[in-house]
Amino acid sequence: MMRQWQIENSQLVMKNSEIPNPKDDEILIQVEGFSLNRADVLQIEGLYDAVSVPGLEVCGTNLTTGEKVCALLESGGYAQYATAKKNQTIPLPSCYSIAEGAALLESAITVYMNLKKMSPLPGQSILIHGGSSGIGTMAIQMCRLMGLKIIASAGSDDKLQACLNLGADIALNYHGDFHTSLNRSVDMIIDILGGDIFTRNIQCLAPYGKICVIAVMAGSNALAPLGTMLMRNVSLFFSTLRSLNNEAKASLIKSYLRDFAAYMNNGTLRPIIDSTFAFSHLPDAIDYMRKRQHFGKIVVMI
Ligand SMILES: NC(=O)c1ccc[n+]([C@@H]2O[C@H](COP(=O)([O-])OP(=O)(O)OC[C@H]3O[C@@H](n4cnc5c(N)ncnc54)[C@H](OP(=O)(O)O)[C@@H]3O)[C@@H](O)[C@H]2O)c1
Repeated sequence: MMRQWQIENSQLVMKNSEIPNPKDDEILIQVEGFSLNRADVLQIEGLYDAVSVPGLEVCGTNLTTGEKVCALLESGGYAQYATAKKNQTIPLPSCYSIAEGAALLESAITVYMNLKKMSPLPGQSILIHGGSSGIGTMAIQMCRLMGLKIIASAGSDDKLQACLNLGADIALNYHGDFHTSLNRSVDMIIDILGGDIFTRNIQCLAPYGKICVIAVMAGSNALAPLGTMLMRNVSLFFSTLRSLNNEAKASLIKSYLRDFAAYMNNGTLRPIIDSTFAFSHLPDAIDYMRKRQHFGKIVVMI
């Protein structure tokens, strides 16, 4: 038997459960840490794909080989044991802690997928909305390694300073008139906000600018100034990692490793860990994420 956290009536409840059986294309992992993602909070609140046991990424021991691994999951990470697709599992980089391994894949592969869509060239500029998020802190680092000029947005002065410390060249509060100061100067945008921020993004874009919308935390409806977008030859992309099939995710992980493994192995790319919580205190970790005071990833250690 094992312990796991299940969603019941929009609350997390600790339960006993059978240890899962891996299928032929899966491994069984003894979980030593998992990280929180905003999607988990939405699932608990019933606002996103329904799952019984949340948890999109874990780090622990592959019980077949004894090797430490990081794994991307569909769900089920909030547990002492989890099964993962073999092709969505990577060895824990040797200089990473378990917490860092648990906080890597969901953000890194999402950011990688979106950067690939926009094909950035060194020296181009990118606006990363939500620079303090798990996604944002990974995006700032990956874009810095790619030689991009980084503008990060966040909602408070502390977070703006932390984005600058992490490697952003400019940090702007998205509650302010960031679009006026960035007028027509930005080549690419990664947007987790949507809503009225989407409309203001268009003013920021240079001709042939590109936007990847990956979440809509500021609202799922937006006014799109189509005439301006047309005349500026704007490209617009939307994507969710979750909706990709196994093969597509595996192929992205392979290609991410080809481009970024060296940076992980020498420690120049590592998830930013805001805080760690004990397994028994998971509901506190979720409440902490809801308060939006974190910078980087929140990890639960087992
Ligand atoms: N499309 C995909 O494939 C994909 C994959 C992974 C994640 N995502 C999405 O990307 C976003 C970031 O995920 P994450 O796990 O990195 O999040 P996170 O660490 O919880 O960070 C979210 C940050 O966004 C800002 N924010 C602005 N409006 C918000 C709102 N209404 N509610 C909550 N936070 C708000 C907050 O920073 P400030 O204090 O600066 O406002 C908050 O700290 C989420 O929406 C997630 O669902 C999408």
